[in-house]
Amino acid sequence: MELGRCPGGDARLSLSGRVLVTEDDWGISVAVAEELTSKGFDVVHIGLEPGAKSHRIQEEGDRLVHRVDPASSEQMDAFVEELGEGPIAGMIHLAPLRLASMAWAEESGPSQQVVLSGQAWFGLLKALDQRLGALDAGIVASVSAMDGRHGNRGDRFNALQAAAAGVTKSYAHERPSLRCRAYDLHPDLLMDASSTAARLVDDLMNLGGEVEIGLDRAGERWTLVCFAEDLVEDHKPLLETDVWLVSGGGSGVTAAAIIGVAEASKGAGASFHLLGRTPLMDLTEGWLEHDDATLEAEKMALRERMIEASASGKVTMVEWNRAWDRMMRSRDVQQTLATIQATGNLAQYHAVDVMNAKSLTKLGANLGHAITGVVHGAGLEESKLVGDKTHEAFDRVVRVKVDGWAALMGAVEASGVRHPAFAACFTSVAGRFGNGGQTDYAAANSVLDAEMARLTASGACRAVAIGWTGWRDVGMATRGSIEAVFEAAGIET
Ligand SMILES: NC(=O)c1ccc[n+]([C@@H]2O[C@H](COP(=O)([O-])OP(=O)(O)OC[C@H]3O[C@@H](n4cnc5c(N)ncnc54)[C@H](OP(=O)(O)O)[C@@H]3O)[C@@H](O)[C@H]2O)c1
Repeated sequence: MELGRCPGGDARLSLSGRVLVTEDDWGISVAVAEELTSKGFDVVHIGLEPGAKSHRIQEEGDRLVHRVDPASSEQMDAFVEELGEGPIAGMIHLAPLRLASMAWAEESGPSQQVVLSGQAWFGLLKALDQRLGALDAGIVASVSAMDGRHGNRGDRFNALQAAAAGVTKSYAHERPSLRCRAYDLHPDLLMDASSTAARLVDDLMNLGGEVEIGLDRAGERWTLVCFAEDLVEDHKPLLETDVWLVSGGGSGVTAAAIIGVAEASKGAGASFHLLGRTPLMDLTEGWLEHDDATLEAEKMALRERMIEASASGKVTMVEWNRAWDRMMRSRDVQQTLATIQATGNLAQYHAVDVMNAKSLTKLGANLGHAITGVVHGAGLEESKLVGDKTHEAFDRVVRVKVDGWAALMGAVEASGVRHPAFAACFTSVAGRFGNGGQTDYAAANSVLDAEMARLTASGACRAVAIGWTGWRDVGMATRGSIEAVFEAAGIET
């Protein structure tokens, strides 16, 4: 990524009605509200309050604030019902700024911080999606304060803020008639709420162009630009002392990549600990050499066994295929282990959910060696437009990447070191550019992109986010809706 100055072109919007604003705690939302009110808008204040029992309207100074639990779809719906029918001009999500003074590392357990940044923003857009979709023009903006460059410059920020930008970038694809913008402010700008608010409102109402905008300390406007760079082949093979923890490493793209790493370090005796939820089956261990015809015969034999074991004497296609998929996953993992071992390295598999922080800490503590490398490849993808996506699906997709990463870092610490020497997260072009149907996936990947950049900038370790495009013939891009999603977005696999 490169940073490019981006003055933006004149493109004034002529809007009226209400603008919904989520509150921060720096005074920016109050100042944005004053700015909008002076331009004739009505402002609706939303105070996101994790754990709130029900939606309520509270008088705070001279403003009315709707208090809602960002994780509750019922409270979001109650809020929207309370809003009534009047015209809406858009929404500005300033709540991610609350994370600017909190460290991600302060959290233990499932992240509540990411809810403020990502889940809440998705929930509001979902609750208002039909009304936003009916507009010819409108504004939808999220605001974070990492380093004024969306996490590509600094090393002291909370990367969970980037979840909001991931949602905004994807929603821009879903609702092209709206001006969607993901701002990232330099934290110093938070100290001058009124001029920062004036700048934001002016930018949003009057400048067209890029979705992803950074504002630096001097108020200069930046965007992120991709550029092609030749790979410098500089191999540094792994050593016997290397111990890598690899989530999702048993199958799919991550398995393919880790096999590549092992092959590039032939005979090193390095250890790879692969994590996945799939339990291994003794039966499939003997299937590694099976050809397609023999596997097909095994599949038929499985059906016979299932029919015999069922009380009704029947088995549905869905049950049969599900049971078969579990067996094939087990075989995939065993295949991966065998292939890595054949390179002269060690491979072990742990059937564990990467979000299970307790188990991962225990695993790290019991390894008996410091973890020197972490690859976070575990991920889920469930493409659906915001209007059709459930809160639960959004949460699932975000948490496996975000809470999974935090749990992996817990394992590293328990193994006796603060940071691994090397870390990689498998992210996606969908995180970089946003993609219709992938607000959750882009939110999670944007967080990991920013966190890898932050770790490298801090000198803690060499951390890379690999923003893959679609892999052909292996992994999630070969299943379900994602092939069609990639095709619609013009992404080559
Ligand atoms: N495939 C692509 O074209 C593509 C493109 C861009 C980015 N990526 C990224 O690359 C990574 C791998 O993708 P893939 O295509 O190989 O996906 P995949 O085939 O669905 O494999 C996902 C892997 O993650 C594991 N996993 C999922 N949830 C887990 C959890 N909660 N705990 C532990 N392990 C878990 C799965 O094992 P179990 O089911 O056994 O848990 C599986 O090994 C993902 O992070 C994805 O976002 C892939």
